[in-house]
Amino acid sequence: MRKIVVFSLVVIIVSMLSVPAFAAGKFSDETKECLQCHDAMPGIVIQWSKSSHWNAGVGCYECHRAGKDDPDAMEHNDFTISIIVSPKDCGQCHERETAEQEASHHAEAGNIINSADGLLGQTVGGPPAVAVGCRQCHGSVVLTNADGSLDPSTWPNTGIGRLNPDGSKGSCSACHTRHRFSKEQARKPEVCGKCHLGPDHPQLEVYEESKHGILYRAFEDELNMDRPKWVAGEDYFDAPTCSSCHISAGGGQGVTHDVGKRLSWNLRAPVSKKMENWQEKRKDMQDICSACHGDPFVAGFYIQLDEFVELYDTKFGIPAQQIRDLLINEGVIPKGNFNDEIDWIYWELWHHEGRRARHGAAMSGPDYAWWHGLYEVAKHFYTEYLPAAERLSREAGKPEVYDRIISEFIDSDERHEWFTKGFDQKKLEKIQKYYQERYQQKVD
Ligand code: HEC
Ligand code: HEC
Ligand code: HEC
Ligand code: HEC
Ligand code: HEC
Ligand code: HEC
Ligand code: HEC
Ligand code: HEC
Repeated sequence: MRKIVVFSLVVIIVSMLSVPAFAAGKFSDETKECLQCHDAMPGIVIQWSKSSHWNAGVGCYECHRAGKDDPDAMEHNDFTISIIVSPKDCGQCHERETAEQEASHHAEAGNIINSADGLLGQTVGGPPAVAVGCRQCHGSVVLTNADGSLDPSTWPNTGIGRLNPDGSKGSCSACHTRHRFSKEQARKPEVCGKCHLGPDHPQLEVYEESKHGILYRAFEDELNMDRPKWVAGEDYFDAPTCSSCHISAGGGQGVTHDVGKRLSWNLRAPVSKKMENWQEKRKDMQDICSACHGDPFVAGFYIQLDEFVELYDTKFGIPAQQIRDLLINEGVIPKGNFNDEIDWIYWELWHHEGRRARHGAAMSGPDYAWWHGLYEVAKHFYTEYLPAAERLSREAGKPEVYDRIISEFIDSDERHEWFTKGFDQKKLEKIQKYYQERYQQKVD
């Protein structure tokens, strides 16, 4: 009993010191040596002293130590260390989180840069733009110098799918910023918003305009985000964050570091398709919703989502893709990306507005579903894409290709009827009458 009291007193006194590491006794001798010099970097040491790692006696050396043969091993004041503490290093203590992260699309994000988007960044833009743009989100291939230090053209970088010198993929500090490595911080939407925003994947903006985002801002203080356990419907009720739906626990679901585990659609592709085992994945997400909503509400939400995605796919996504294929096959435009006006229109049609529309629908952002989304898709399809196809067919001396486009893709689908035949006169008259009555004014 006395021992416990004395021990508790020591802990209390120690935790009252500002840089409390030395006296605690729970740190390794190596870490104590690191701290002796690194007092000169008070930011890092103080952040660490506020972390769970400090509490658990995990110090500088436990994370930064390296084997002599590691590709990024560096001699540093009689220690062998590496600057990068990779998922593999964290995985020595956090096996489950690391395995889930490794199996996710997040870990693959550095590998996919060699795509059409890659061409855009590397060639249309230029390599320095890729370094400070694409790679800061997706991750760089980190290269080492002969002494184990890191090549500055590839680091600093904490991209989500970074390719590390030890062969592991990703960077845990993309979400758990060093040296706090906090759960609380990672639960906040702003963390995801470093990457999930902008013209081609505006999840943060969509979330902000959704009822969920509004409630998050109104009741952030009541969400208990600092609790060790954070289960939707048990520890908080007012609003879900990105993490609630994609990572954290709720309903019957535990925490997962595989952000794809609950997704039934691929909404970022030119044409959306369902994922493998989509029913199971959808059920997992619905479990989370059900922590706060009733089943008919959730079922209704998914019916609206599916109908919207199918509208985008069948009315615009698939026809736009097939029209471009036809133009290439008939020799109207050359094969390849971004070497033609129509390539650019097509690119933005699916990659910008087409995605925005689908993301708006999936996360309850009506302005993104329509005005920044399907409205823009329709406008560009009818007023830029088809006119460009007509002009290019004519210029290539093959006007019959455009005739085929009209008969195969436009006339065959009554949803496009208005484009060739105009709006229904009776409907127009009805609308005019409605406005006259509503505003007591004459409308031309
Ligand atoms: C003798 C003093 C001293 C000791 C002991 C020491 N460091 Fe350092 N360390 C420094 C200084 C000074 C710098 C800053 C170097 C600079 O700015 O060029 C540094 C830089 C670093 C860096 C960043 C390297 C880079 O190139 O950006 C890491 C990581 C690091 N130390 C970790 C450790 C760890 C882990 C330990 C204990 C195993 C440790 N240090 C022990 C003095 C020390
Ligand atoms: C839980 C593991 C962990 C612990 C504990 C830890 N670090 Fe780090 N440290 C990291 C990670 C992760 C990075 C980021 C490296 C990267 O991916 O770019 C980092 C980066 C650094 C850097 C280079 C980045 C910069 O901003 O200059 C220094 C210096 C550093 N750590 C020093 C320390 C010191 C000193 C301690 C002890 C007080 C410490 N670290 C404890 C994981 C850790
Ligand atoms: C030597 C073992 C060890 C290493 C290496 C390690 N951790 Fe930890 N980590 C722990 C322990 C122990 C805890 C405390 C567990 C607890 O409080 O239940 C912890 C807690 C955490 C937490 C929870 C923080 C919170 O707010 O409660 C996160 C997040 C975390 N670690 C991330 C990392 C990351 C990222 C790395 C690599 C950069 C890493 N850890 C490296 C042992 C380690
Ligand atoms: C602001 C951060 C950010 C920047 C900058 C960025 N991306 Fe992305 N990228 C993302 C996010 C987030 C996604 C996932 C979007 C989604 O799921 O809706 C993504 C998706 C992708 C995809 C589709 C992946 C798939 O699985 O279908 C490719 C390819 C891609 N990006 C390549 C690039 C290239 C190349 C660049 C630079 C020219 C770049 N990105 C710039 C964040 C970024
Ligand atoms: C995409 C963002 C993201 C990335 C990347 C990420 N985490 Fe997490 N992590 C989270 C969130 C959010 C939580 C909090 C989940 C919850 O609500 O309890 C968390 C929680 C944790 C916890 C606490 C687990 C528990 O049950 O208490 C550990 C440990 C952890 N992460 C380790 C890691 C490691 C190791 C990596 C790298 C392999 C990593 N994380 C990468 C977002 C991330
Ligand atoms: C450093 C940038 C970055 C951060 C931070 C980030 N992501 Fe991502 N995320 C990406 C990129 C890039 C992709 C696309 C990866 C690919 O397709 O290979 C992606 C993909 C995803 C996906 C689609 C996964 C799939 O299987 O299709 C989800 C869901 C996701 N992220 C959720 C989150 C959440 C939630 C957070 C915050 C807790 C977060 N992300 C933080 C960059 C990031
Ligand atoms: C209320 C729950 C909820 C919240 C909050 C939420 N999402 Fe989602 N998210 C979803 C649903 C539902 C889908 C579509 C699921 C499906 O495909 O079945 C989705 C899809 C996604 C995708 C996949 C897009 C693709 O291209 O396929 C990404 C990435 C994503 N969300 C990121 C985020 C980010 C980042 C935030 C916060 C800024 C966030 N989500 C907030 C429920 C949510
Ligand atoms: C932590 C609790 C919580 C979770 C989890 C949650 N929601 Fe909500 N949601 C709410 C609250 C509270 C509202 C506000 C209801 C209102 O408008 O009065 C709301 C509003 C909504 C709305 C807008 C309704 C309207 O009338 O404007 C939709 C749609 C929605 N949620 C769908 C979902 C879906 C789909 C999921 C799962 C992917 C989900 N929610 C998960 C709490 C939650």
